[in-house]
Amino acid sequence: MSTSTLDLETSDRIQDISPEEAARFYSVFGGHIFFQTLRAAAAFDLFTILSAKGPLTRSQIATALGVEEQPTRVLLLPLTVSGVLEKHGDCYANSRLAEQLLVAGSPHSVLAYIELQHRVMYRGLTRLYESLAENRNAGLDEFEGDEPTLYQRLAHDPGTEEVFQDAMQELSLQSNRCLADGVDFSKVGHVVDVGGGDGTNAIALATRWPGLRVTVFDSPTVCKIAEQNIRDKGLSSRIQTYAGDCFKSAFPVDADCFLFSHFFTIWSPAKDRFLLQKAYDALQEGGRVVLFNMMQEDDESASWAAAVGSPYFQAIATGEGMLYTWSEYEEWMGSVGFSSIERLRLPRDHGAITGVKGS
Ligand SMILES: C[S@@+](CC[C@H](N)C(=O)[O-])C[C@H]1O[C@@H](n2cnc3c(N)ncnc32)[C@H](O)[C@@H]1O
Repeated sequence: MSTSTLDLETSDRIQDISPEEAARFYSVFGGHIFFQTLRAAAAFDLFTILSAKGPLTRSQIATALGVEEQPTRVLLLPLTVSGVLEKHGDCYANSRLAEQLLVAGSPHSVLAYIELQHRVMYRGLTRLYESLAENRNAGLDEFEGDEPTLYQRLAHDPGTEEVFQDAMQELSLQSNRCLADGVDFSKVGHVVDVGGGDGTNAIALATRWPGLRVTVFDSPTVCKIAEQNIRDKGLSSRIQTYAGDCFKSAFPVDADCFLFSHFFTIWSPAKDRFLLQKAYDALQEGGRVVLFNMMQEDDESASWAAAVGSPYFQAIATGEGMLYTWSEYEEWMGSVGFSSIERLRLPRDHGAITGVKGS
């Protein structure tokens, strides 16, 4: 059998595009395809099946998923081309990355976050163009209610709120081990976790630091979820909840630390400064503030996590946030009066910045 290659006129060729550059562009151009096949495979639990059973042929995969062979072929192609799966002869196996990130029960699983991407991000991000052009979170129009943030609207849709909190819990359980181990809370008696979510942070902190009392400050519906989780861990005597709106409700004055975890990304720089000022005013001398987030590098050109995470805040969550740079947070902290400001680099693109009231 012979093959031939069409020899195009120079002017018909796209110049100097390497296969790697083409692949990179395809992964952007076809990002929705790659994501949706990933999500479908996750919904079929394909990666967990491959992890348990080892490499399988297409027909064995079809049987295991309860899907016909032709659609299985369509599912496997983008997963293989993108490197999520590896094909050896007739058999498909998890890549090293899939084995760690996509298998149920793995300590590094991102499966709950994939479902959040599907149920929330996809729905709202179809409106990114308007969100940018009009500088508002137009994607929120896709969600029931008339409140200005996603967090408030999720209260109308308990199913989606649960998907959201499950993804946050997954992220928190993994990243917050670094928070609990990496940041020194030994001198803290009472920390208020502002926007503390379902209590995963609080539970990790109270478990790691036995002398610590924690208050989870969040909306009433989320506090209810947190209370249940705290009760389940037998920590109700050390962790309490405080239902309110951090912009309107007074901050507790008996705290010696305010924690903002995955929270400042949601709001504009002006609102973040406002919250820092509010925390500063509520603290006694020697009190602390801790910011914990995925951080963007100061040069604004190479942070994949920041690039992937930021449009959600503009188009859906609030219409005003993003993953800011280390130096922006530090500047805001300093501007409201905090000193001894320290950066702590942590795994998974995360970092913590701490500051102290007083010199
Ligand atoms: C991105 S989640 C972060 C959860 C948790 N801190 C963590 O690190 O995983 C943001 C949380 O902030 C809460 N939140 C949003 N707006 C708030 C407000 N105005 N006052 C208090 N909590 C708020 C949401 O309900 C949600 O639980």
